[in-house]
Amino acid sequence: ADALKVGIAGLGTVGASLVRIIRERAEELAVTCGRAIEIGALSARDRSRDRGVDLSDITWFGSAEAMATEADIDVFVELIGGAEGAADQAVRAALERGLHVVTANKALLAKHGVELAALAEEKGVLLNFEAAVAGGIPVIKALRESLTGNKVSRVYGIMNGTCNYILTRMEKEGLSFQDCLREAQRLGYAEADPTFDIEGNDTAHKLAILTTLAFGTQIAADEIYLEGISNISIQDIEAAADLGYRIKLLGVAQKTESGIEQRVHPTMVPRDTVIAQVDGVTNAVAIESDILGELLMVGPGAGGDATASAVLGDIADIAKSRPGEQRVPVLGTPAKALAPYVKAR
Ligand code: NDP
Ligand code: HSE
Repeated sequence: ADALKVGIAGLGTVGASLVRIIRERAEELAVTCGRAIEIGALSARDRSRDRGVDLSDITWFGSAEAMATEADIDVFVELIGGAEGAADQAVRAALERGLHVVTANKALLAKHGVELAALAEEKGVLLNFEAAVAGGIPVIKALRESLTGNKVSRVYGIMNGTCNYILTRMEKEGLSFQDCLREAQRLGYAEADPTFDIEGNDTAHKLAILTTLAFGTQIAADEIYLEGISNISIQDIEAAADLGYRIKLLGVAQKTESGIEQRVHPTMVPRDTVIAQVDGVTNAVAIESDILGELLMVGPGAGGDATASAVLGDIADIAKSRPGEQRVPVLGTPAKALAPYVKAR
């Protein structure tokens, strides 16, 4: 079969890891996918920036939208970030052109996910976003595919690596909030604007996506009760520990008799539970459903390689798919059939 040509827009923490991994694993990927995966085009803001990999032989586009519109590629991979602007315009242009899209951008999906899913479904292409929630943990695939037929009652967990990293190091090493945040930024875990991490918005974006997949409702990120960790002090963490608890930033979505409840806030979690023992950049997502029971997935929640692993899995799924036979609805339910969101009273 012909090689699958991917164009990658955004060459920061995730994009640069992805380029390196696709090159290092070229032979294995060609065998497992049944066809080669080639990088056909790249785009970022600054062409001269050193990305730790030689990019000189790949076609460069100064604009992500131009790459989406003009490049000789089958898949547009969006690793820029942000709900509006370059990422949004380029993803729309790629879908309009009939390209498959892979993105790690939860802010974009939380805002425009239903519209983008409808466009992908109309065009008969895939819009894959495993990396957008809980980094390398395959939670989208679990909800969208593996749990088909189950009625989900609750999804909850630790969905932001930066916050869990900060809370862990504050507790275990007594470091200040600001020092921990700076380190999370240096390691590539934090969002371009880290207030999205520490004020809970990033967890809310991820929760809103999971809620839609779990309950088949419209995305409702604005309906989430939101409280971040910026006011948590070492004294709070120590007081919780004295009582037998650890403080975790949790996202929780559950079905109630009056509608759906979604909330994000620091939570006192009993020390002897699995979730309480999830440390550092690790994330944990629990899904309660009627046929399977309780599923708990724990794994790397942020960072270049962990996130690129999920992006690569999405690309591989496209490489293995048959053109014109896209039957997995982007959001688990066809975009046009999503139910209205009813907030719990
Ligand atoms: P970075 O900030 O490290 O990289 C962003 C990249 O986008 C840079 O290469 C930048 O170019 C490029 N860029 C910015 N604006 C434009 C534009 N207008 N046109 C073209 N390229 C542009 O981000 P990350 O790699 O950390 O994150 C990328 C995406 O992945 C985001 O949506 C993020 O939320 C998501 N994500 C990140 C995770 C992580 O652990 N980092 C985990 C899961 C998801 P230049 O380098 O030239 O400045
Ligand atoms: N900033 C995010 C986090 C990246 O810390 O979890 C992964 O989505």
